[in-house]
Parts: sequence; C-alpha cells; structure tokens
Amino acid sequence: MRELTRVRTLPPVGAALRVIRVLGPAIGLWYVWDRRGGVSRSRGGLSRRLRIAFERLGPTYIKLGQILSAGEGVFPEELVSEFRLCRDQVPAESFATVRRTVEEDLGRPLESVFASFDEIPIAAASIAQVHAARLLSGEEVVVKVQRPEIDRQVRRDFAVMAWLAPLLVGRIPVAALANPPALIELFAETIGEELDFRLEAENMLDVAHVLARTAPDSPRRALVVPRPHPTLVSRRVLVMERLHGYPWGDAATMQAAGIDTAQVLMAALIAFLEGLVLFGVFHGDLHAGNLLVCPDGRVALLDFGITGRLDERGRLAFLRLVMAAATNDVRAQVAAMGELGALPGDIDVDRVIADLRLDQPVIDPTTMDAEQLTNEIREITKSLLGYGARMPKALMLFVKDMLFIDGSMATMAPDVDVLAQTFAILSHLQTTHGTRIAQDLGINPSALGGVELAGIRSSFGLDEEVERLTHRELQARRRLIRARLQQGHRSKQGTDR
Ligand SMILES: Nc1ncnc2c1ncn2[C@@H]1O[C@H](COP(=O)(O)OP(=O)(O)O)[C@@H](O)[C@H]1O
Ligand SMILES: [Mg+2]
Repeated sequence: MRELTRVRTLPPVGAALRVIRVLGPAIGLWYVWDRRGGVSRSRGGLSRRLRIAFERLGPTYIKLGQILSAGEGVFPEELVSEFRLCRDQVPAESFATVRRTVEEDLGRPLESVFASFDEIPIAAASIAQVHAARLLSGEEVVVKVQRPEIDRQVRRDFAVMAWLAPLLVGRIPVAALANPPALIELFAETIGEELDFRLEAENMLDVAHVLARTAPDSPRRALVVPRPHPTLVSRRVLVMERLHGYPWGDAATMQAAGIDTAQVLMAALIAFLEGLVLFGVFHGDLHAGNLLVCPDGRVALLDFGITGRLDERGRLAFLRLVMAAATNDVRAQVAAMGELGALPGDIDVDRVIADLRLDQPVIDPTTMDAEQLTNEIREITKSLLGYGARMPKALMLFVKDMLFIDGSMATMAPDVDVLAQTFAILSHLQTTHGTRIAQDLGINPSALGGVELAGIRSSFGLDEEVERLTHRELQARRRLIRARLQQGHRSKQGTDR
C-alpha cells in the first residue's frame, strides 16, 4: 500500500497525459456549460462528466468512483447519486487468457484439476471474472480469475493519482468530514487486497471463523461463507465452493417461493453485528452483487476483497457505543465516539453535549420548515468540523454497509417496525452475549442496564408519543425532509438572483 501511494518527484508522463486528456475536457466542458447554472446544476454537470471520464479511464478510477458513491451525507448528493451509476461491466477476457492465467498460477494444465470449466463467465468486472467449474472430485466450484494486465495498470494509475491528488486538494470542494487521507488509504488498501486473492481467501476464513464462534450451537447460521479450496488459491486464481441462491434484489421471487424476506434480512443483520461487536471483523462491501439468499433462508456472503476490521481498542469503543445507545446514555456515547477516533481524544464531552443539545428532547425534523432544517444542518456540521470530527476508516465501511441494509429494507422488510426491531436486536445482544460483553467492558453484567426505547426513538428523530414506525413511514419522512430542503434551496437561489 505504501508503495502504491508513494508520491514520485516526476509523474509517469505518458500515463499522466492520458489522464489529463480524458479529465481535462470533462472539467473544461463543465466550466463552460454547467458552472453558472446554479449550485445544483453545476455540481450535477461536473459529477456526470467526471463519472463518464472515470468509466473511460478504467478499473482504478471505477473503483474510486464506487468508493465515492458510498459517501452519502459526506459528499455532495449529486456526486454520490451520479457515481452510483458507475458501471463496472467490462468485456470478459477470452477463455484462452483465462486458461493461461489459471495454468500459470496453479502450475498444471486445466484438465488435470477440473472435470469441466464453463468458458462463459458468470460475471465479469474490472478486476476479475468468475467462472463456474467442477473439480475432478465432482465438487461444484467457482473460479475467480484476475485479469492479467490489471496489476500493472493499477500501479500505473496510482502513480498518476498520487502525483495529481496534491494538486487537486483545496481546489475541489469536499466536506472535510470526508477525511480524504483515510479515503485514499482505504482506497489503496482495498485495491491492494483485491489484487491478491490469497488475502481474499484469508478474509473468507477469518469471517467464517468469527461466524462459527459467535453462534457455535446454532443449528442454522444466518450467514454462510463459501469455503475457499485449501490448495487451489494463488495471487490471481481463487477456487471456492459454489453456492446457489436467489439474487439479493429479487424480493418478489423469494417471497413467492415462501421465503420470509424480513426474517432473512434481520437474522443476517444480527449475525453481522455479532461478528462486529464480539470480534471486530465484518464483511466490508455489502451490496446486492455480493449476496445471495439460499433457498433455506441463509444469506451467502461473497466477495471478500474488502473486509472491515476494528482493532481491540476500536472494537471495545464500538461495543461501548452500542451499549450506551441501547441504554440512552448520551455521555457514554459521545465518549465512545472519542475512543473510536471520530472525535479528538481530548474533547470536552460536556461541551459537545451542550453544543449539539444532546441532552434536550429531540425536535422532530419533519416539523421544521426549510430554513430551520438548513440552519440545523449547518450548525451541526459547523460544530463537528470545529471539534475536528473525522470518520475513521472502519466506521466508514460500517456506515456504508448500514446504508445498504437500510436500502434493502425497502423491498425486503417495508412493514417492519424499525423501533421494535432495533429494540429486539439490542436486547438480543444483551441477553445472548451479556456475560461476555460485560467482561469485555470490565463491568458487572447487571450494570449493562435494560434497553430503552426512548433513546432509539430519539435517534430516529421522533418525539415521545410515537410508538411504532415502519420502514415505509421512515422513508416517507426522509422524502418529506429532502423535498423541503430542495425547495428551500431553490427559493433561496430565486431570491439571490
Ligand atoms: N462462491 C460463489 N458461488 C456462486 N456464485 C458466486 C460465488 N462467488 C462469486 N459468485 C458470482 O460471481 C459474481 C462476482 O463475484 P465477486 O466475488 O463479487 O467478484 P468481484 O470482486 O468482481 O465483484 C457474484 O456476484 C456472484 O454472482
Ligand atoms: Mg463483487
């Protein structure tokens, strides 16, 4: 990683010229056409041109685009929604190339390992493609094969980026909360891990191990991980157990087949959180392409290129944060944010509580008008920036995963009461793992305290009377707030002009 992000004195000239040739016109056209059309149009135009340029520049930039697209609430909304469209569908490598890579890496002819090998891949993305195959033993497997040129290409792209990035810093408006250094580190680490499938196989084993240890007696675990083949793993080739299931996005088909999708989603979420709070390890790249729902309702996790890890200190801080949220202990929550590295270590907890009015009853944001909303957001952002708040890397992955789960609820569990569900998950953690958690935190199990609905309610911005809130209702609230903000934005532009 260090090598990837090292800044050289001289740019790799040819490669840099290519980047400038593609990015230059994109930015230039934006400058001429969209820039003066108001903030939203300007950002929208730049985002679109950048997205198309990134797609042309290839895998490294596509990957960067995907990371940016996960930055909801951190980067401008126009950029985030545009980069969600970043297509990662590249024509597949020819079968001859695939054969050559597999044979080179495994050191044997294809036929001496596989009884059959599908020439057409199941999926082809920018870094690798995946083929279904069968071992001589008859076992069904998939073979993930890396593109042969990708390693060289990524190194070259990074060399250019490392040289260009310092020139761009300060010229492109990005919220400081985004923590650019952590983003670049995350990016380099991500892509570095994805270029070595031995690391991916190790991640798979780690996550599987954590799942086995969290629910050792459970007859049916909620999450499954395909088993990597013990000997058929190399830098560019990863042979693993093939799993079958429904595509994640296809809730209607699952429901028609009698699968309780709300139940599936919640069980998977609990298993995910258990792995995180008890062991600090989690799948760091949840999205529809990386998940399958098995016919028995278990969720198969695929693609361990990005795995979230909290060190012991971070894990304990996270555990404290969750437990403090459960018991509605605001002080402890702010302190835990500090320990997590999201706030500076010497932060004055009482001041934060007073500034952000965390000790006061929440005001339901749907009762505010556009101006109040805008002011509220501005004030909170200003305070957070003032403290030097930062999103630590692991937290970034976690938030991204939770945004995905939240989106999945819309189709898989729209009528689930999110308040009751959050309550149930927190109670589950306390009752099932209370002894361990108390031991970790160095307290008496009885001191964990009961889960409080009041805290959950206020974290959703609801006032006291509300007893339940379905995900559908939650979405309607968000739509209302977003519309009001946009309206406010527009009328402000109107008066400015
Ligand atoms: N173990 C597996 N069993 C069945 N299908 C798989 C398995 N692993 C990957 N796939 C299929 O291949 C696709 C791409 O695999 P993935 O590991 O996500 O690659 P990438 O890193 O290119 O996204 C997945 O979306 C899934 O459809
Ligand atoms: Mg994938």
